[in-house]
Amino acid sequence: MEDGGNSHGFFMLNSNAMDVILQPAPALTWRAIGGILDFYVFLGPDPASVIGQYVDVIGYPAMPIYWALGYHLCRWGYKTSNSTWDVVKSMRNNRIPQDVQWNDIDYMDQFMDFTYDPTKFDTLPEMVKDLHAHDQRYVIILDPGISSTQPEGSYWPYDEGLRRDVFIKDAEGKTLIGKVWPGLTAYPDFSDNATHEWWYDNLQRFHKKVQFDGLWIDMNEPSNFLDGSTNGCPSNSLENPPYTPGVLGGLLRAKTVCATAQQKQSTHYNMHSLYGLMEAKASASAMKRITSKRPFVISRSTFPSQGMYSGHWLGDNRSQWKDLYTSIAGILTFNLLGIPLVGADICGFGEEPQEELCIRWTQLGAFYPFTRNHNAIDMKPQDPTAFSPLARRAMKQALLLRYSLFPVLYTLFHHAHVHGHTVARPLMFEFPKDVRTYGIDKQFLWGKSLLVTPVLDPGVDYVDGYFPEGLWYDYYTGNPMPSKGEEIRLHAPLDKINLHLREGSVIPTQMPNITLWVSSGQPLHLVSALSDDGSATGDLYWDDGETIDAYENDQYSYIIFNVAQNMMTSEVLHSSVEATYITVETASFYGVKQKPSRVLVNSQDAAFTYSTNKMLTVTDLGLNLSHNFTISWM
Ligand code: GLC
Repeated sequence: MEDGGNSHGFFMLNSNAMDVILQPAPALTWRAIGGILDFYVFLGPDPASVIGQYVDVIGYPAMPIYWALGYHLCRWGYKTSNSTWDVVKSMRNNRIPQDVQWNDIDYMDQFMDFTYDPTKFDTLPEMVKDLHAHDQRYVIILDPGISSTQPEGSYWPYDEGLRRDVFIKDAEGKTLIGKVWPGLTAYPDFSDNATHEWWYDNLQRFHKKVQFDGLWIDMNEPSNFLDGSTNGCPSNSLENPPYTPGVLGGLLRAKTVCATAQQKQSTHYNMHSLYGLMEAKASASAMKRITSKRPFVISRSTFPSQGMYSGHWLGDNRSQWKDLYTSIAGILTFNLLGIPLVGADICGFGEEPQEELCIRWTQLGAFYPFTRNHNAIDMKPQDPTAFSPLARRAMKQALLLRYSLFPVLYTLFHHAHVHGHTVARPLMFEFPKDVRTYGIDKQFLWGKSLLVTPVLDPGVDYVDGYFPEGLWYDYYTGNPMPSKGEEIRLHAPLDKINLHLREGSVIPTQMPNITLWVSSGQPLHLVSALSDDGSATGDLYWDDGETIDAYENDQYSYIIFNVAQNMMTSEVLHSSVEATYITVETASFYGVKQKPSRVLVNSQDAAFTYSTNKMLTVTDLGLNLSHNFTISWM
């Protein structure tokens, strides 16, 4: 940020080990130990333009498949497929929204990729069929390490990998062996197209047994329980360069493969940071071929361009209040990096959360662009059904709120995909001239208009939030809340996350259901928050939720909403068949200064209510979203 609200960006595209050091000047120093030095300067001038320019260079994030935006439930340590299934059933019985169930390495036979445990997870294929029958989806973990110690002829992925020569080699040209969950492993070299084909073949074969819908690619730094390999690493200038940046263990090979390891495109010294990107590319392309739908991939390791292929979760956090707080900065950072599909492990991975923490985390998590509850092995269950009825209700309420905002979220992802916008957005992006917004890391926006103010501390029923100058509305009640650019204390009982709508915005919301697929035909409720001069704008992007390149191939609808001079117009700018089955049932207008005497919908008189907090509501509209319409009052 420069003085006066201008901003610029600097990007060094380089995959070698590096330090980036913050200097007091203010200045940054980059210190990379090799590779190509590609520099970019983005002139902005506002922060959102800087990011748009960056994303234009690295590639726009993929448009996610609709269920990627639903609630995901996961843990390490489901002991059987039946116990996994039981949680799903219990979620259904409690009518708590859940779109996706995941399994961690537990499902595998001795932690080997492309296998499932024939005894403990014997009902896995049935469970997945049952998920599909309930419009739910299933995601599996895959680690890159391929077990290298199975008897020849018994483990196709390794045998075939050797035959096709897909594994990373050591400096002498022999398959490099490290150690991960299944024991000794070889590492696929995703810089080689032959490896992508082999990866696809493995996925395709396994998909015939278990019809997974998406992939969680973990340990892809790549992670190694050994330093380098079973044989260590040679001693030379790649392994021990004159300067080693401040990497884990102070050694390039620490907890990964040797820097001298050989990949098709270069040495691992140059390729290391690209491992997760290339694995994501192979995984997304394979999933596209297998499902013929938009691929869903979540990766732990990332690199610029990652958003084109996968989303990201922030890795192993803990069930602590400070991790709840720092997750916001993590979410916002990855939105700046062109990977908007990002979330932290809700309720914390390591350790066990107090019920209160898990409620607050589910509320904040309902506003992570990617929302997944994940838990470490041996920790007690922390899915919503594991808690008291009161906690369950609060969590369900937060998730239903998210599901009701799906049209907003989906539209934001469309703008990320097409224009490089952020989805979860720092306040300073919308208020770059207000220096008080620069340091805010306890609140954030969805797009330009929804301000989220979560509780991040135990034992309180209030939260202090900063509200930039202007008119804000309580999302739930429509009560106006003018701000001079000040901190305001908000009531925040345990079952509430504060949400405010910025003046001048129209958002499309939808009656929620327990899966997004079932919600998809539900009627819309348009909420308009009027500016002092009575105006507001908003939009809606809609498609079938899963077709690849729907936007690029014109298979979508795009509608803009405008309110001015006591009239809302809904204008269809682009229309395809997909939105014809959706109706707008309700429209609410926050900040209508005088009680209207008449309301007209497409020039016909309509019933309405007006409340003392200046909210006008028109119900039973039955308006077809695919046709232009007007709602006016006098
Ligand atoms: C890694 C992942 C974690 C996962 C665990 C077991 O620690 O970050 O999410 O549960 O491995 O696969």
